[in-house]
Amino acid sequence: MARTLLLIASSSNLDLLRTPRELSLKVVLVAAAPPADESLYDVHLAANEFNEGAVLSAVHAYLRGGGQVDAVATFHEGALHVAARIGAELGLPGNSQEAVRAMRDKFVTGQQLEAAGVPTPATRIATTYAQAMATAEELGFPLVLKPQASGASQGVTKVSDEVELKAAFENIVGIYDLNSFDEDGYSVPNVARVYAYPEAQGVLIQEYVQGQEFAVDFVYGGGEYRPLAIHDKPYPFAEPYFIEGAYATPSLLPEDQQSALIRTSVDALKALGATVGGAHVELRLTASGPKIIEVNGRLGGTNAFVQESIRESTGVWGPREYLRAVLGEPVDFTAKPHPTPAGFTPVLADRTGELAGFEGIADAEALPGVVALRWMAQPGDHVVIKYPENPVSCFVLVLARGEQRDDVLSALQDAEKALKPIYTN
Ligand SMILES: Nc1ncnc2c1ncn2[C@@H]1O[C@H](COP(=O)(O)OP(=O)(O)OP(=O)(O)O)[C@@H](O)[C@H]1O
Ligand SMILES: [Mg+2]
Repeated sequence: MARTLLLIASSSNLDLLRTPRELSLKVVLVAAAPPADESLYDVHLAANEFNEGAVLSAVHAYLRGGGQVDAVATFHEGALHVAARIGAELGLPGNSQEAVRAMRDKFVTGQQLEAAGVPTPATRIATTYAQAMATAEELGFPLVLKPQASGASQGVTKVSDEVELKAAFENIVGIYDLNSFDEDGYSVPNVARVYAYPEAQGVLIQEYVQGQEFAVDFVYGGGEYRPLAIHDKPYPFAEPYFIEGAYATPSLLPEDQQSALIRTSVDALKALGATVGGAHVELRLTASGPKIIEVNGRLGGTNAFVQESIRESTGVWGPREYLRAVLGEPVDFTAKPHPTPAGFTPVLADRTGELAGFEGIADAEALPGVVALRWMAQPGDHVVIKYPENPVSCFVLVLARGEQRDDVLSALQDAEKALKPIYTN
């Protein structure tokens, strides 16, 4: 009999939603709004996918009605705690609620990594500006301030003196109160409404870590932690903010440094109690070795092309391997012996306004090496540029592959030059 997967949260990435079908699973999808394509699921449970209580009652009602659930999964950061709660209630494989908290709440991450001796920046939490000043006195500038639990680099700011500290602190405190970002009559939803972990609303203050940045994706279960790929982040961030740019894989680092990134990431996953699932670990490579910046308890790229880039490169589709892990199957995928260079970039809108459409689509698609575009905005959508509190300005993602790293980066750069938003005025 077909096994039934409880999939929490919809996604604009249809590749993710199609993956359970590759494993011939029956899908019970919990989402406030299901995707238009009804062939992607068998049963829809209407509930706010980020609300534990709401999802729990919907699932209980479904089970009382004779429904069955063999595994629970989510690809969405904002629903990890909900999936863990359901998994705990139903006794299904997956990360515990404690592990999910340890990964989503960056203060808990910092404390647990430090206690376990895994290298990570010194991490403090402040709820008042007086505490923030005392922390600055203790750790010294430069520092990085960020929300205790958010995503998309929301509010993440490097500060070098007290004036910048105060501005960044107040900015982050303000994030928690807003439903939307509004300017000149344009309005976009506040991403913290989706990403913020319930009741973790402090301001995180960290020592600034100097070094090139990398992201490592994993699937794990049964005591095995298997890396899918390392992505280099080839361009420096436009500090003092950290809006994500291009990713490229395989890494150009020497083997021993790649191994060090993987070792440190696995140490972090173990220290945080991650036992079954996916992970996207971000690290910086310092003069004294890798330091963990963030451990996400899910695969990279709910929307971004992280997994597609890995598939172009290694032939492995991480979301499928993640589903196999939560189904209790062995984590034993095999990558191509020689990875193909691949990568992606977000293309960012340049100003606030209403989108009428886009130009350069055919030119971008015709570029050698460009594999796919994924639209993150549609005509009629508003854009509000307000860094760092509203980091969302990507209107399209570009995926590319090539024979060499440089082919990938040129394809991405040329596509970025070609693709432009058209505004209504
Ligand atoms: N302590 C630090 N030192 C140096 N850079 C940092 C530090 N903390 C964060 N950053 C930079 O800011 C980026 C975003 O921070 P972080 O990953 O903690 O936030 P996030 O909102 O989860 O981001 P995202 O969802 O984009 O990964 C990091 O990828 C890194 O470039
Ligand atoms: Mg991050």
